[in-house]
Amino acid sequence: MTTDHQAQGEAAGPAAELPRLLRQLDADLAAARNAEEARGAASRLLGKKGALTLLNRQLGTLPADQRPAFGAALNAAKAEASARLETRLAALDREVFEKSLAGPPHDPTLPPRGAPCGHPHPLMSTMHDIVDIFAGMGFQVAEGPEVEDDFHNFEALNFPPDHPARDMQDTLFIDAPGNLLLRTHTSPVQIRTMRSQPPPVRVVIPGAVYRHDDDATHSPRFYQVEGLLVDDHTSLAELKGCLTLFVQEFFGADVTVRFRPSFFPFTEPSAELDCRCVVCKGAGCRVCKGSGWLEVLGCGMVDPEVFRHVGYDPEQWQGFAFGMGVDRMAMLRHGLSHIRALYENDQRFLRQF
Ligand code: DAH
Repeated sequence: MTTDHQAQGEAAGPAAELPRLLRQLDADLAAARNAEEARGAASRLLGKKGALTLLNRQLGTLPADQRPAFGAALNAAKAEASARLETRLAALDREVFEKSLAGPPHDPTLPPRGAPCGHPHPLMSTMHDIVDIFAGMGFQVAEGPEVEDDFHNFEALNFPPDHPARDMQDTLFIDAPGNLLLRTHTSPVQIRTMRSQPPPVRVVIPGAVYRHDDDATHSPRFYQVEGLLVDDHTSLAELKGCLTLFVQEFFGADVTVRFRPSFFPFTEPSAELDCRCVVCKGAGCRVCKGSGWLEVLGCGMVDPEVFRHVGYDPEQWQGFAFGMGVDRMAMLRHGLSHIRALYENDQRFLRQF
């Protein structure tokens, strides 16, 4: 009985397998989508249990005279398989690289994207704007501690112990020795400034203050800007001129102001400055609660009693002072009805400023 292999003479025996195996390898390599698949295809011939490896084992079973020719054919087939794998791997590499170049064309002249950049919080920019206006009138910036003592926050400002004016301040006391509290206003910095320097004084005092108060228009921590001017001669007329100029710079030159008598322990006389409602122009609306006027700040002539507490001679020196809520100014300026928005740090809100 003859086999096909024997009928083909030279190609008879296991060597006849070799061209078929290489053809199969070619097909598998062509189908491989990546290096891993290509290596898998080659290892079906060259691996431990690969077809060529198995044929190699049969070498010993062949008649001695056939061994050299078959061995040579086998080695040639192994070399060929390795070479074809390398060729395919190089082609796949090139494909990956070319794919990485595809896509939208690269324009090296475009400006860089840039790092994301923040901006001042609306409360801080309002505070800076207020301070800037007074700096333009020659006021210097002064600051003081947020944890205060009774003397600076109340006593030296002419709030005697048990005076009802203290009740208005909704004070947060600190549970520790030393009569400490969170300052309820920036006015104690008036005292600190006057105790640290001789007159004349012209300071503007921005900062955080605290009160036990929390509703749509009040936050327990909020901001004030205070002002103090002391000189050998000043007057209520100068106070009115200075603050009218401020309001017109802040809200616009066409805004009308009025001074209304009021009470603060550390000023005499005292007043509150109102401006015509910037929303309804005086017709009456929700923001001004129908009155047509907005309360903007408190002010007055420095009480001689305050000068006595800081060691200034009230016969020689005169002064005026004022204080305003920054949150309120920011809310009026931006038409906000809820103070919360200024403290929630919601980017969707803050990005608008
Ligand atoms: N300190 C006062 C408050 O928080 C505001 C104030 C009113 C400050 C009149 C002043 C002033 O300097 O003269 O209610």
